[in-house]
Amino acid sequence: MNDLSLLADHLEEARKVLRSAMTLKPRCALILGTGLGAVAEAMTVHGHLDYRAVPHHPVSTVESHRGRYLWGTWAGVEILALQGRFHLYEGYSPAEISFPIRLMARLGIKVLLLSNAAGGLNPLFHPGDLMLITDHINFTGRNPLVGPNLDALGPRFPDMSEPYSRRLQDIARQEALRAGIRLREGVYVGVLGPSMETAAETRFLRAAGADAVGMSTVTEVIAAVHAGLEVLGISVISNVNRPDCYEPVPLEQVIRTASASGPLLMALLERALPRISKIAEGKPNDAENPV
Ligand code: HPA
Repeated sequence: MNDLSLLADHLEEARKVLRSAMTLKPRCALILGTGLGAVAEAMTVHGHLDYRAVPHHPVSTVESHRGRYLWGTWAGVEILALQGRFHLYEGYSPAEISFPIRLMARLGIKVLLLSNAAGGLNPLFHPGDLMLITDHINFTGRNPLVGPNLDALGPRFPDMSEPYSRRLQDIARQEALRAGIRLREGVYVGVLGPSMETAAETRFLRAAGADAVGMSTVTEVIAAVHAGLEVLGISVISNVNRPDCYEPVPLEQVIRTASASGPLLMALLERALPRISKIAEGKPNDAENPV
């Protein structure tokens, strides 16, 4: 995927297929990561398309993990939802992880909402907390924009002074307050994984300024910012890592705690979505052109 004109062609072929399948023109997209998986059941689904039916789209290597696009309405708002996510630690390249993001931008998506499960580094956090991501540290050692830049996708040196939209953060804060949902906030550091952090790495990441650590999100957000999308990210704090009394983090605990906070995150986004959608609708629709 290093060949630029090939990438442009691939995106255009994929866009045509998804566009002709889709019966709506949503401007908000959600990546159904940890905490948001149940949106697939909560939304009124109008249609869906498997990743494997979209030309050049990465597909999950795990047979049981069927990836697909779902479109429909949630909280009265037209949305496009991605069910099935790709991580660097699974062996996907940064370009593969970015493909769906770039495709969505070409389809006219303006706002991307994403969630993740993360380990808390801020000692004031508790397992089960929600954390509004205000900024990130890309500590994966990879960047999806390495290589020649396709100017039609975005600029060579995209500005990263506001990767997580301040106005979307404000909406999330206000709606959390109204709903009585405690919303922490802080910096998410993305690491490559899949091994968990050592106590020394945990101490280092905290000293580097991070409040939570996880193995997703930063690659997608860099690609999204490059493509001009506005991003809202929320972490579900599944465990809290204290380097001076460090304990193992069993995966079952991560999954159990993160799943238990899913309804809270969904309640927050359901309230925020109508306001977020107004912002998305207000943006000029210049994206839906061939690359
Ligand atoms: N570290 C890295 N990724 C994670 C963690 C963690 O402690 N918890 C959930 N995802």
